[in-house]
Amino acid sequence: MRPAASSLPARILELRDLLRHHDSLYYVLDSPEVSDAQYDEWMRELRRLEGEHPELITPDSPTQRVGGKPKEGFAKVPHTRPMLSLDNAFSEEELRNWGRRVQELAGGETVEYICELKLDGLSMALQYTAGKHGEAHLASGITRGDGSVGEDVTTNVRTIRSVPLSIAAEKLKMAGLPDHFEVRGEVVMPLAAFRKLNDEREEQGLAPAANPRNAAAGAIRTLEPNIVAQRRLDFCAYFLLQKGEELLPLQSDALNALATAGFRVNPHRKLVNSIDEVLAFIAAAELQRETLGYEIDGVVIKVNSSAQQQRMGFTGRAPRWAIAYKFAARSGMTQVNAITIQIGRTGKLTPVAELTPVPIGGTTVSRATLHNADEIERLGLHLGDWVLVERGGDVIPKIVQVVDDANHPRGAKKFHFPTHCPECNSEVVRAEGEADWRCVNINCPARLRESLLHFASRGVMNIEGLGEAVVLQLLDKKLVHSIADLYQLQEADLLSLERIGEKTARALLEQIERSRKAPLNRVLFGLGIRFVGERTAQLLVDAFGSMDALMAASAEELERVQEVGPRVAQAIREFFHEPRNHELVERLRRAGLTFTGERRQKSARLGGLTFVLTGTLEAMSREEARERIEAAGGRVSGSVSKKTSYVVAGEEAGSKLDKARELNIPVLDKAGLLALLEE
Ligand code: IVH
Repeated sequence: MRPAASSLPARILELRDLLRHHDSLYYVLDSPEVSDAQYDEWMRELRRLEGEHPELITPDSPTQRVGGKPKEGFAKVPHTRPMLSLDNAFSEEELRNWGRRVQELAGGETVEYICELKLDGLSMALQYTAGKHGEAHLASGITRGDGSVGEDVTTNVRTIRSVPLSIAAEKLKMAGLPDHFEVRGEVVMPLAAFRKLNDEREEQGLAPAANPRNAAAGAIRTLEPNIVAQRRLDFCAYFLLQKGEELLPLQSDALNALATAGFRVNPHRKLVNSIDEVLAFIAAAELQRETLGYEIDGVVIKVNSSAQQQRMGFTGRAPRWAIAYKFAARSGMTQVNAITIQIGRTGKLTPVAELTPVPIGGTTVSRATLHNADEIERLGLHLGDWVLVERGGDVIPKIVQVVDDANHPRGAKKFHFPTHCPECNSEVVRAEGEADWRCVNINCPARLRESLLHFASRGVMNIEGLGEAVVLQLLDKKLVHSIADLYQLQEADLLSLERIGEKTARALLEQIERSRKAPLNRVLFGLGIRFVGERTAQLLVDAFGSMDALMAASAEELERVQEVGPRVAQAIREFFHEPRNHELVERLRRAGLTFTGERRQKSARLGGLTFVLTGTLEAMSREEARERIEAAGGRVSGSVSKKTSYVVAGEEAGSKLDKARELNIPVLDKAGLLALLEE
């Protein structure tokens, strides 16, 4: 830790610079230099200082990424110059035709091309305007919309960590950029974030998002900036303009300047002199596609010189100086041989199509998820059917449709969804309004297996080495009957398993030992309570601070927690009510697992509380009140509901005050709020 700077604003400025620098290393350059813990410590210190001195908060402070008021809707804003789409080429021939045409238009001049990856997300225009000290500030983020008019989604764009909120004068100078300009680029959802989103959706019993592009587009249009922030979107810059004109003579220089200024610019780009070289770039990109961590759907080829671009101009909807070479869809046709059922840790039955193996985009696909019984119905799928299978990134392959033509006759056998658990033969039930069938037997061996795997997995208790091979043997040999049994395992037990020597056994025991220290939010996540994913677990720890407080919480108290609704509250209550789970928790307590949690600073004082502001507070703007409540971990909402903890009412308070009285919600005046903040 550095010693605290003597004067307060200096320390605040120093912390902001530190956080910005490390944000850039982490989110833009993918090369973090400090631990998450150190970063969090700086962030906490800055939040604390800003909380104590709200008058010093500036909109570009790293604490202010999630700050905008939830909006009613998005304002329509015209673009400085239309955001056009690109013409597509689907084959070498089409690409060569385009190349010839460009050559003609260049009239004898040599043409240099720049090849870039075509990121599969949604395009966005960011306006930067001049600040007081030569810096540039993010002023707005606008979606493409219909190309001429987009939607102002600035509050959401601010939550994207790779979008700089401000760029210092020195940095602009280094990059050769002025203090006001426009950057266009693509907002994408990295595959890791996409997978996490779908895991969460699955946990909540929601249908998975179809692909990262849809998920990113959905997130950007969410009215709750908090939720956008969790989506971990990314922004990749590919265009630099000023007043609707290219700012630099070469696209390659523009990309380098953007990178120097602190934007994320895709490193896979190349200057070439011929279409042959473009084709080589495309071939390489197709190979890289599998390992990028985000989705691309082709390669964009642009004429590098702005002067040549200008001369070539536009057709109605697209520039003549650029083209998108689209990769072939990663799909294939194959036959469904069987439908098997997988049972998850919450007892959910997932049907899986077993396919005749088919190569699709570099890998062999032999299974595809069918999600639930409705999906089989929707596809009208029979056993023996030929189907079209699509695969994106490393997303689980899915069946798009059943093929039915002369060469591919329909399968005759209808699939009957099981009425009993294929693993333990207990009854399966489907709750009203839910898509999934579940095994009701809490002792179902499949559920135990999946629970153990979940508990041990990375991101949960992180017990390295406790994978499927070991778990299956432990169950087979009846060495574990519950998660808690893991903490009773002895070296001799592990040595009795196949392919486990002394070294491995000791390492595994060490891992299990280490997991006793895992923080409460992980333990809670590890229990596998329905709807309680990673994030909800953390929010619960923030609100209750200990396992005991959580177990004792009433449905009402649970529902007061941010993002916990009646369904989640009920699932938590039911879980702790079940005697077997109760016993499990007690055994874990005896095993010495962490049962008290660190409430994160962010939500310390007012954590879990929701405020509604109404009327005018004396000598305190609503904005200031909101910032101070949020700095203390509270949440400010626009409307009064049963979930509201306090209504803060000033002069001329309106209908919100009536509503508060109606619902019996405590009402604070300014002094009351200050008392709460300073408590
Ligand atoms: S240039 C007028 N460069 O592809 C030039 N676009 O079909 C337009 N895209 O709407 C954009 N990666 O959303 C450009 N490196 C890249 C791109 C890219 C993805 C998207 C963009 C655009 C669409 C064109």
